[in-house]
Amino acid sequence: MLLYENLAHEFTTLIGEGRLRPGDRLPSVRRLAQQRKLSISTVIQALRTLESHGVVEARPQSGYYVRGRSARILEAPAITTAPAPVDVGVNSRLLGVLRANEMPGMVPFGSALPASELLLAPRLSRLYASIARKHPELLTNGSCSELSDAPFVKAIVRRSLEWGYPIAAEELVATNSCTEAIMLCLRAVTQPGDTVAVESPTYFVMLQLLESLGLRALEIPTHPLTGVSLAALELATRDGQVAACLFIPNGANPLGAIIPDETKQAIAELLALRKVALIEDDIYGDVCFASERPRPIHAFDKSGNTMLCSSFSKTVSPALRIGFVAGGRRSAQIALQKTLMSGKTSSLTQQVIAELLETRGFDVHLRTLRRRFSDQVARSRDAIARYFPAETRVTDPQGGFVLWLELPPAIDATALHRKAVAAGIAFVPGEMFSASGQYRNFIRLACGHPWSEQIDGALKRLGGLTHSSC
Ligand SMILES: Cc1ncc(COP(=O)(O)O)c(C=O)c1O
Repeated sequence: MLLYENLAHEFTTLIGEGRLRPGDRLPSVRRLAQQRKLSISTVIQALRTLESHGVVEARPQSGYYVRGRSARILEAPAITTAPAPVDVGVNSRLLGVLRANEMPGMVPFGSALPASELLLAPRLSRLYASIARKHPELLTNGSCSELSDAPFVKAIVRRSLEWGYPIAAEELVATNSCTEAIMLCLRAVTQPGDTVAVESPTYFVMLQLLESLGLRALEIPTHPLTGVSLAALELATRDGQVAACLFIPNGANPLGAIIPDETKQAIAELLALRKVALIEDDIYGDVCFASERPRPIHAFDKSGNTMLCSSFSKTVSPALRIGFVAGGRRSAQIALQKTLMSGKTSSLTQQVIAELLETRGFDVHLRTLRRRFSDQVARSRDAIARYFPAETRVTDPQGGFVLWLELPPAIDATALHRKAVAAGIAFVPGEMFSASGQYRNFIRLACGHPWSEQIDGALKRLGGLTHSSC
């Protein structure tokens, strides 16, 4: 074991044996370095490892604390053999679920959307009005060749300086959302019938995209804290059957996992070596809970094989439909797909985002959002521990605002969904997150809304329905 792994292991043992309890403060970095005769960077690496495993949390200006374990933690999947690709057929089943979830008056545990009061509507309306006044040409001009406007590109490149390795202006294409960015990448690197590796469980829209392009899904076992299994990925990509990977390395939906840096580096190298394209969805990168923003895999990939997709749907507003892709060496193919699919992304919206990102207030907004999401997730976990059957296991997300619950095996989550919808409560049944019919007794709960008595009451009712379905 390396020195930092030794130290991390020692603390994991102390916590596991209950000698350090939730809420206990760990000694400071300096003190640990002195006590153990280690370098500061080794101690920091050990603490970050513990943090990325969800064992401790960093509190700004205060230090590292043992995290609470109010609900039973979801267990890691076993990796036995290489997974096999399957056809995808989720679209028709999903439509009914999403429709039911969006009926008026539903308690909003369905869609992974932040509550509108957490977003920036007044700011946005002022920006739209002032930019349209200053640049009326943005309301009418179009372009077939210049897809991304210079201020937007500059603002994204500047922000990416904080992600470990800057995006190059030339590789950036502005898109109408993260979903469109992913679609463009899939179209650029796959043919119908190809196989795409995805996390398991994965965000259902990934499966819908594969289905609509006639692609097969290969589900890679994924750890609830550290993300996609490198060992399983190594097995799955040995024989050339995988054309591309589509992963959410930071704050994955639905697990909330963050792939540790060393694994990100290894994934970048493995896929570049085996010529498997990597599409990375980093939409939750800015709303992960650790003190430092996690890097995307793109930051570890010097080969241009990684396509980084993101949008402002979780941080600014899902209504703006604006995102981007940094396409690496495939940016020209992606730009062509963009021109063919939807033409240029609104210049007015590109300009609004560019101005918003350049204000100092934007970082304050992100910090507030992270705090709110982390609080909402923590309170929901506590309520689940109170109201749901004792065998229920739940994730401990490192970012984002969704929870993934494993209910007792007897429960059929789709039947539970029907009952919950009748009681005015939305969620997404686990089956929708798998192309191979896994997760029948799992559900995803979105926690995008501030904690309230209504949310608490709805979790209590949902817990009651779960008890009576056992
Ligand atoms: C992982 C992930 N990617 C993409 C999206 C959708 O983003 P957009 O609204 O920009 O298409 C979501 C929304 O839930 C998501 O969870």
